[in-house]
Amino acid sequence: KNSHEEIIAEVKAQRPPFYDPDKSLVAEEADNGGENSGNANDDHLYTEGKSTKKQLIINDASISRIDSQLVDDFKRKPQSRHYQDMLKFRRDLPAYNKMKEIVDIVRSNQVTVISGETGCGKSTQIPQFLLDDWLLNRQNDHVEIICTQPRKISAIGVAERVANERAERIGESVGYQIRLETRSSAKTRLMFCTTGILLRRLEGDPKLSSVSHVIVDEVHERSAESDFLLLVLRDLLQIRSDLKILLMSATLNSALFTQYYPGAPVIEIPGRTFPVDQIFLEDAVEMSRYILEEYSASAKKISKSQSRELEIVMDAEDMDNLPIKGIKHPMPRDPDEILPLKQLFHRYREYDRETCKTMFLMDAEKIDYSLVEHVLNYIVEGDHNYPKKGSILVFLPGLGEILSMQEQLMGNPIFAERNGKFVIVPLHSTLTNEEQALVFKKMRPGVRKVVLSTNIAETSITIDDCVFVVDCGKMKEKGFDVNKNMESLETVWVSRANADQRRGRAGRVMPGVCFHLFSRQRYDMVLSAQPVPEICRIPLEQLILRIKMLPALASKDLFHVIRGLIEPPAEDNITSAVDRLRHAGALDEFCNLTPLGKHLASLPVDVRVGKLILFGAMFSALDSALTIAACLSYKTPFNAPLNKREEAAKKKQQFVRGWSDHLTTLQAYKCWQAAFNKQGFRGAQNFAHDNFLSNKTLLTLADIKIQFLELLMDIGFVPGDIRISRRKNTQDRILEATGRELNAHGENQKLLSAILCAALYPNIVKVYTPDRQFSASISGAIPAPLKADSLVFKTKSDGDVLLHPSSVNYEVTDYPSPYLVYQEKVKTAKVFIRDCTMVPILPLVLFSAGALKVELNCGEFLVSIDDGWIIFNVSSNKVRF
Ligand code: CDP
Repeated sequence: KNSHEEIIAEVKAQRPPFYDPDKSLVAEEADNGGENSGNANDDHLYTEGKSTKKQLIINDASISRIDSQLVDDFKRKPQSRHYQDMLKFRRDLPAYNKMKEIVDIVRSNQVTVISGETGCGKSTQIPQFLLDDWLLNRQNDHVEIICTQPRKISAIGVAERVANERAERIGESVGYQIRLETRSSAKTRLMFCTTGILLRRLEGDPKLSSVSHVIVDEVHERSAESDFLLLVLRDLLQIRSDLKILLMSATLNSALFTQYYPGAPVIEIPGRTFPVDQIFLEDAVEMSRYILEEYSASAKKISKSQSRELEIVMDAEDMDNLPIKGIKHPMPRDPDEILPLKQLFHRYREYDRETCKTMFLMDAEKIDYSLVEHVLNYIVEGDHNYPKKGSILVFLPGLGEILSMQEQLMGNPIFAERNGKFVIVPLHSTLTNEEQALVFKKMRPGVRKVVLSTNIAETSITIDDCVFVVDCGKMKEKGFDVNKNMESLETVWVSRANADQRRGRAGRVMPGVCFHLFSRQRYDMVLSAQPVPEICRIPLEQLILRIKMLPALASKDLFHVIRGLIEPPAEDNITSAVDRLRHAGALDEFCNLTPLGKHLASLPVDVRVGKLILFGAMFSALDSALTIAACLSYKTPFNAPLNKREEAAKKKQQFVRGWSDHLTTLQAYKCWQAAFNKQGFRGAQNFAHDNFLSNKTLLTLADIKIQFLELLMDIGFVPGDIRISRRKNTQDRILEATGRELNAHGENQKLLSAILCAALYPNIVKVYTPDRQFSASISGAIPAPLKADSLVFKTKSDGDVLLHPSSVNYEVTDYPSPYLVYQEKVKTAKVFIRDCTMVPILPLVLFSAGALKVELNCGEFLVSIDDGWIIFNVSSNKVRF
């Protein structure tokens, strides 16, 4: 009858000897798990700490010895030719003129906000100003500057650039740290890292005791991590009056940040930009009918039904009463979208209706590679007065689109490589350093760069000689997938702020031009003014777990903490995230982290995916668990073309396993991989094609698996010494990486469905048989055959639901257990359950962490499973419903 506190006090008082957990629970000894793969120099003074956290053993004497050495090195720098050359370049950057002002203001304020045009030298120069000031004056005992970057690629890129400007090797006074990779030494005083790395450091070092300056770069991007970091730092300032914080941003809404940090001065670095002409789709067409004609000649012919729908819009007198219902994709359904369209047509009334329709297609939802191609043709060969030199920067939403665009341009006689006049450079966040270097490389005279980029070139990376920008108006954004109840990456329209920033990239060296591939009306009326901050778009499980990991915040009221964010998310989102975390077993009833919760907190993935990969590693079914996890977080590789549905379904039958869509997908993946290993890329491609699988999706899944594996290494769940070879193809890497011993039980379907149950609970569907009650023992007495349509499926929140016809369980009647787990449900007129897996009862009873379990009689438990109860007898392992 003791209270919770009393029990804890009692346990603490007794202090039983600490049980050293049997490491074999984890598939492999995780002793050196996730250990630093940093290429530390020999003179580094590291201890090998647990996980990735390296600890420098530095005593006062060694610090002052190294500090003096750094000052001596600095004094000698002017002798270096390279340093001098770089200095010449640096002096020309707008930020350089502000050096004294910045140093002075930072000295006399705790928080400073700095804004300036992208490329003016914020990221590369300002951290150096602080470092140089210390080297010259050493007014503080110690300096340790941390500069956070939103992405790995920028952390490495800026660090290497800064080291280069200082004529040093990376890892000396300037270093970087990203997940699984650290380049630093006892000498390092300026450290670039990702925002996530600093947040993790705060878990073990809540006061950042040795840090003197924290620079948060790109705060305007408003990533969830950076917003959260601002909150943590705001609290930290109260106890660290000596800590200096700098917020840096491109196009800053500085009022927002100075309200958040009252009294913080704002330093604006004046830009050095030239005017840029802003050209919308209709202007482009007006400038060159050539674009329109070329486009309409090659454009997909507009379908009859689309054409009819467009006529309806064009003829409509009354905007409010448009028959929107009858309008199909790609016609917008949102009335807000109709208005700009109507105006677009209005503008084109002197043209014939076909032209209007083509214009509509051009302004429509999808990225049109031929349209981009025609605009590029026009830029380089068209009849206009703009310069016929300078780089061209094309903004596309994501890697997939960049690759497709690249392919399209390779077939274009002007841009093709063999022509030698243009170099096509893809730019996205997963590039290696060498690939990224191409972006900055100066071309031979007469050769122009065409950079195909995601929004990484909006604010993070600057193409110095850019004169033309082609903006397709789309970007990838993290959003919330209501059906899956988890984060997803969606292609969305950019905001006006994004579009303006994209335009600004063209005026770096001379007046430039920006082609927006959408209408002015869309810009004025449809695009939102600012992007919605990420924290208001995504589920909050990760944020909550992070809060719970930080000693300074863990015990505070969760709602109160979250309300303290610069722009807090809706309270409903917090409540539902807490519920989900409790059900997942990550939080206990007092909202404290459970041991499982602690592990999940270290994995930046959806908690269900996190559980799946943790359990997969524990039970030596890692490779299989990674494959399923990749599918859950991306998409299924099965294709079902409309006209070949039956054929596709037949092919799918050969992969069906264990009453489970997830295991069926796993089987298909494994067969594809086998084809890959045996016959290489072409073989895999043919296999995918023959079996109605998407080769592209499968390749992406393989990549996601590697990312997950790296996460597990990072937290020590998988031996860290597994090398993931960067040279080989993805599939070999995965096989090599997960190794056979980590997947010894990867073929065990019962085990896999139990793991799926643990991961996906409480997403449970119960199968009801009207004729008769299930009464099964765990050993699995299979009920007599039934008709598929005599079964009824129910979930707690929706009542009756239907299995989706694409599920392998759609026509099944012989369920050995009446419970299915699922990830996704789709609400149309009815609620459909998509992929699902039948789960045995024992794992359901034992793994359903959030379920209520009440002991009735001795050994007989009443277990709440979704909307009903099971009576579970522990001695006989039998259940009654
Ligand atoms: O942070 P901000 O956008 O203001 O500029 P920055 O990243 O400090 O870059 C300043 C200039 O340094 C850029 O305009 C590039 O010319 C150059 N830079 C470079 O050449 N290589 C890099 N890896 C980074 C910057």
